[in-house]
Amino acid sequence: SPAAVGFVSEDEYLEIQGITREQSGDYECSASNDVAAPVVRRVKVTVNYPPYISEAKGTGVPVGQKGTLQCEASAVPSAEFQWYKDDKRLAEGKKGVKVENRPFLSKLIFFNVSEHDYGNYTCVASNRLGHTNASITLFGQMTSPAVTPWKCPGAVSEVSNGTPRRAGCLWLLPLLVFLLRQF
Ligand SMILES: *[C@@H]1O[C@H](CO)[C@@H](O)[C@H](O)[C@H]1NC(C)=O
Ligand SMILES: *[C@@H]1O[C@H](CO)[C@@H](O)[C@H](O)[C@H]1NC(C)=O
Ligand SMILES: *[C@@H]1O[C@H](CO)[C@@H](O)[C@H](O)[C@H]1NC(C)=O
Repeated sequence: SPAAVGFVSEDEYLEIQGITREQSGDYECSASNDVAAPVVRRVKVTVNYPPYISEAKGTGVPVGQKGTLQCEASAVPSAEFQWYKDDKRLAEGKKGVKVENRPFLSKLIFFNVSEHDYGNYTCVASNRLGHTNASITLFGQMTSPAVTPWKCPGAVSEVSNGTPRRAGCLWLLPLLVFLLRQF
């Protein structure tokens, strides 16, 4: 209510100087004289302001997994978002990438992260009063050991007619025996 934020005027006009975002809301005007009951009208005051980005967090994602970069901006009217990678605008409908926009939030979703997705992205939030941007990094991350199958160096993944898949590991055994003999 207007009284709660300290705006009470006995005048025909209510003047608010240097209005802030928090002073948006419904204001009530009451007109009365000796003859009739007071007439009350509500006036909705909307304070417009340029976007500011409240959250832009980088994230680490291993190759082959889904990754999401998120950019949160506050603005009235609500912000429109654009994404750039290294100052190059991301094309709409780029394969494997999707942009999801909501009034205060934009998500850049990578369905299957590859090496060349890593890098710096810029989220630009704009409305008719202005624009701002924030840099967000998508960086590589090791898959956790629990889900990475142990692989010996030089292991071959192809199995050609009956050749055991573990063949690539056998050279480790003589080496181990050799090392143990040193003690
Ligand atoms: C992700 O991309 C890699 C390389 O293009 C491919 O081998 C893999 O199957 C893909 N994974 C999924 C879940 O689509
Ligand atoms: C990303 O940005 C950071 C900070 O601005 C910079 O140090 C880093 O080198 C950049 N990385 C790439 C891949 O451009
Ligand atoms: C981000 O903001 C900086 C500083 O205002 C500006 O120099 C730069 O061009 C902006 N980047 C993009 C992609 O809009």
